[in-house]
Amino acid sequence: MRDAAPTTIYLKDYTPFGYLVDSVHLTFDLADHATRVTSRIAFRPNPETTDRTFFLHGEELTLVRAVIDGIEVTPSITDKGLTVDVPDAPFIWESVVEIDPGNNTALEGLYMSNGMYCTQCEAEGFRKITYYPDRPDVMSTFTVRINGNLPVLLSNGNPSGKGDGWAEWTDPWPKPAYLFALVAGDLIAHPDRFTTMSGREVELNLWVRPGDEGKCAFGMEALKKSMKWDEDVYGREYDLDVFNIVAVDDFNMGAMENKGLNIFNSSAVLASPETSTDVNFERIEAIIAHEYFHNWTGNRITCRDWFQLCLKEGLTVFRDAQFTSDMRSAPVKRIHDAIDLRARQFPEDNGPLSHPVRPESFQEINNFYTATVYEKGAEVIGMLKRLVGDEAYSKALDLYFDRHDGQACTIEDWIKVFEDTTDRDLSQFKRWYSQSGTPRVSVTEDWTDGTLTLTLSQRSEPTPGQSRKLPHVIPVAVGLLGPNGDEVHATQVLELTEAEQSFQFTGLAAKPVASILRDFSAPVILEHDPSNTERAFLLAHDTDPFNRWQAGRSLAQDTLLRMIRQDATPDADYLDGILAVLRDGDLDPAYRALMLGLPTHSELAAELFDAGDTPDPMAIWTAVETLRQATAQHLQDLLPRLHSETLIDTPFSPNAEQAGKRSLGGAALSLTSRLDGGSKAAEEYAAADNMTLQLTALSCLLRTGKGQDELSAFYDQWQHDRLVMDKWFGLQVSMAAPAATVDTARALTEHTDFNWKNPNRFRAVMGALAMNHAGFHRADGAGYALLADWLIRLDPVNPQTTARMCSAFQIWKRYDADRQDLIRAQLNRILETPNLSRDTTEMVSRILG
Ligand code: PHE
Ligand code: ZN
Repeated sequence: MRDAAPTTIYLKDYTPFGYLVDSVHLTFDLADHATRVTSRIAFRPNPETTDRTFFLHGEELTLVRAVIDGIEVTPSITDKGLTVDVPDAPFIWESVVEIDPGNNTALEGLYMSNGMYCTQCEAEGFRKITYYPDRPDVMSTFTVRINGNLPVLLSNGNPSGKGDGWAEWTDPWPKPAYLFALVAGDLIAHPDRFTTMSGREVELNLWVRPGDEGKCAFGMEALKKSMKWDEDVYGREYDLDVFNIVAVDDFNMGAMENKGLNIFNSSAVLASPETSTDVNFERIEAIIAHEYFHNWTGNRITCRDWFQLCLKEGLTVFRDAQFTSDMRSAPVKRIHDAIDLRARQFPEDNGPLSHPVRPESFQEINNFYTATVYEKGAEVIGMLKRLVGDEAYSKALDLYFDRHDGQACTIEDWIKVFEDTTDRDLSQFKRWYSQSGTPRVSVTEDWTDGTLTLTLSQRSEPTPGQSRKLPHVIPVAVGLLGPNGDEVHATQVLELTEAEQSFQFTGLAAKPVASILRDFSAPVILEHDPSNTERAFLLAHDTDPFNRWQAGRSLAQDTLLRMIRQDATPDADYLDGILAVLRDGDLDPAYRALMLGLPTHSELAAELFDAGDTPDPMAIWTAVETLRQATAQHLQDLLPRLHSETLIDTPFSPNAEQAGKRSLGGAALSLTSRLDGGSKAAEEYAAADNMTLQLTALSCLLRTGKGQDELSAFYDQWQHDRLVMDKWFGLQVSMAAPAATVDTARALTEHTDFNWKNPNRFRAVMGALAMNHAGFHRADGAGYALLADWLIRLDPVNPQTTARMCSAFQIWKRYDADRQDLIRAQLNRILETPNLSRDTTEMVSRILG
């Protein structure tokens, strides 16, 4: 049962634990419904504090026995943990508990997925395995013995013994409990090796269920590339004899960086050309890198408390983005990241769930694994690097690893290594960690006598709990282009530190066009209103690939907003500009494909709302469809050429080059199907020999209102493959017309393969429903009601996934009074559900405000 008043935890209340842990020995006797966990833990008083309260976390555990220094004791137990009197000297705590992994549907702690045992301990899952000080600043070495009649028994560290029905693992590196992992099951290894920079041999294994052996090769290559890259770029070497990755089908998140034993959602690691799209491949490569990079940024140096989550996540996302830029195309990666940030982080930061990169309070930490902590956290590091320069950044990172290896750190420690390296005072920069909300930077230009003056001003709207904001340090990268398109002033980083500041560029022969916020140098909203002629000029000439793309995006947004508000017709500057870029065969196909992208419906809704209008989801839908149709017509003569230019005559590879071609070819196919009623798409579907093409062709058909035969053929072909079936479920909802979306989603929830307790399957349908803007926001509220029904149903089974999906409602105040009433009613209905989880209660209460 839920507490009447959920407790709020504050950063300012942090105190160290009264005891240090010298070693942990665990023994698991595995049984589906009665696993026994025996612990033997060496504690000693922590000399850094006088607080001697001995509290061990523990939830959903049945205590069988507790012993201190060999003498049985009787702790006092609540649903949160236990307390007991302990000696004021080093002592040994032993306990035996019983747990029920077979009934653990929340997928936190020790649980079962398709007959295999696995664990998820971050953030606070270890307390569902045994009694322990389950906090990241308590670090210890672990020895784990697993007894169980399963062929593969894994835990962290190095193997230290095995026999019939048992295995033992020893992890020499002190770690917090959230990095503990155990896996046991009938698994098959995809083995490989890696020789580290100092010549140590590491055994690598990717463990999968029988049947998935053919989907391992790509992930393994990605792992080896990541290991090499971290040596080359950060000087970081792997530190154990083995590195294991396990794929599980039931997992709440993408993947988890447990020391030496990463556990992955199978969707984030398994890949093959027949079953995975290029987008899947790129994401898998990035997630493997991300989890591997945590070995240093997260594991060797961990977080003092969960408020410091961005210390490991922001930095590790930043590192995986650098990796992807190096492996693939840097401009394309930067554009993707900006698109994602605007689509996911901006709405969060400008709505009721807004919180700082380092939050100051929480009720349920699982609710703070957010786009703000991860992606804005990574952007903050990108700004820091831009401000101090690449060389100082590397020096600061070396110092960070030297100084803090083996410690549980804070953002203050992180900032300090930069201050010590550069002698720069970063106290104002630190506001990026404490102030929430997306800053807006507006620009005005003055041109007199060969001098261009740019006046930049910044402001941030109030956010929950923060009514007044102080100025940030904002790096604004600017370049100038002359009238003939040549760059007359190379990229320079302007440091905006005050509310308003002017910067001058002198000695210019003619009035230049300014390219502002190049490379998306700060996670801000730029309010700069160049004329459409200037935008078209930048789209044709900007030497910064990000801003060239941005110019096209702004033109598209501008024409869409005028189409929505004033029934305008599609703008010729946009159509001609896009045509010219798409014609340019020297440009990377992936980049050209991005040029065809449009702002999402939800972004348009946000723009309208910011300008004081009430977004009408159907009007947005109509404008986007009209612009797409006009684009197809305008590019009509070019489409066959785009098709032939993107043909691939070499064997399939998921590399950036081929992926770029397929992406441009797919974008062209989608336009073509608006003109030919889908006949080309039907041909391509029939000929497809990889999932990217198969899925693209099917989407084009479904959007044209066709493709029912292909849809059932797809089902017959792939019904044995859970990951492909997730696509089958999701696609139908994303491609449904506005009036059909809710019914399509509802019908799919009645399908025999709608295994709703599996987070991937649940998200495939309900996530796609929430993302289909016009369908979800149907005027009668049926979309809201369907999502709420399912959230209410999922909550007792899996609170974490339920709570995350509640964020679909965070944008509710943008819409008209009727829709607001409809959404509010659903949020209240969720909140009034008896025994609602702490996770969902916190999310819904914050959304309601
Ligand atoms: N720490 C994981 C990552 O970022 C994410 C995660 C959090 C996974 C909580 C599971 C549970 O890589
Ligand atoms: Zn991470």
